[in-house]
Amino acid sequence: MNPGRSSAPGRCPLRLRRRPVPWDRQRPTWRDAKPRIIAEALKRAQTRPSGNWYVLGATREIKPGRPLGRTVAGTEVVAWRDATGRLRAGPGACPHLGAPLKDSPVRCGTLICHWHGLALDGDATAGWEPFPAFDDGVLAWVRLDEAGGEQPLERPVVPERPHHDRHLAAVCTVTGRCEPEDVIANRLDPWHGAWLHPYSFVDLTVAGRPGDDSSDAAPDDDSFAVDVSFKVASRAVVPVRAVFTAPGPRTVLMRITHGEGAGSVVETHATPLGTDGSGRPRTAVIEAVVASSERRGFAVARAAAPVLRPFMQAAAGRLWRDDIAYAERRWALRSTGRFPG
Ligand code: FES
Ligand SMILES: [Fe+2]
Repeated sequence: MNPGRSSAPGRCPLRLRRRPVPWDRQRPTWRDAKPRIIAEALKRAQTRPSGNWYVLGATREIKPGRPLGRTVAGTEVVAWRDATGRLRAGPGACPHLGAPLKDSPVRCGTLICHWHGLALDGDATAGWEPFPAFDDGVLAWVRLDEAGGEQPLERPVVPERPHHDRHLAAVCTVTGRCEPEDVIANRLDPWHGAWLHPYSFVDLTVAGRPGDDSSDAAPDDDSFAVDVSFKVASRAVVPVRAVFTAPGPRTVLMRITHGEGAGSVVETHATPLGTDGSGRPRTAVIEAVVASSERRGFAVARAAAPVLRPFMQAAAGRLWRDDIAYAERRWALRSTGRFPG
């Protein structure tokens, strides 16, 4: 099922599958999903610079008046908004006697330690040194040079998104016991889509992959092009072409290039947290859906964003429960020398 270039506004994007193929009768993809192709795409992703930037969470998670605490790459981080709304971040332990600053209140943009009242306005003070922080309007980022160990970049590598006037964004976070590379490897395996997620994807064909010089290849040399239909109801689907790229070592980008919502992106960011009590790594998968459409109905949907957002998050959550199981399994096999790739 090939999606058109883009649906004309006002035209119904839904298609009815005439003869739905049962799950167990679809074409197996395992011969095409060569472990080497996935491993090489992952390796290339890992060589791209992150500039030591890590996604901390959704922009909307950090509200004025309340700090957000998160351990990133083993570093305790606290983030909040100052009086101008600017994102501030730094070590999450108070430099005086170590109070957890995530539990401290913010008064007029100043974080006030609740143990003895040390006031932090976001600039260096009393031995507390801020971390560079960046809010791109959808996601909040923090730069941790010690943890990252790369050449620092002034700004994170933020993928190109639909203009904020015409987009609807939702962010979903899921945590798994694995490393970022397991999450990225899962995303660089587009062949699993219709097998592992039959409730969301059907009729999936990988039309182009890195190194593929066929006429149907992906638009640049290091991307996967996928023709797939999103399942809306039992037979009703929305066919699209999606292109997957890995712009950084912990990010995979899916861009809808043809069909309904062309221009929409799904950014998957894998943020290492630290280890659990048994020493297993924990990774947060922070996924931003930035949807765009020229349709009139979409303007209505955008106005209803606060209502729709939880549904978008729930839908992403279901996909991610299955994908996180894939990533955790990959880590379990890797860490015990049993990974077949
Ligand atoms: S522990 Fe924060 S001021 Fe004492
Ligand atoms: Fe998946």
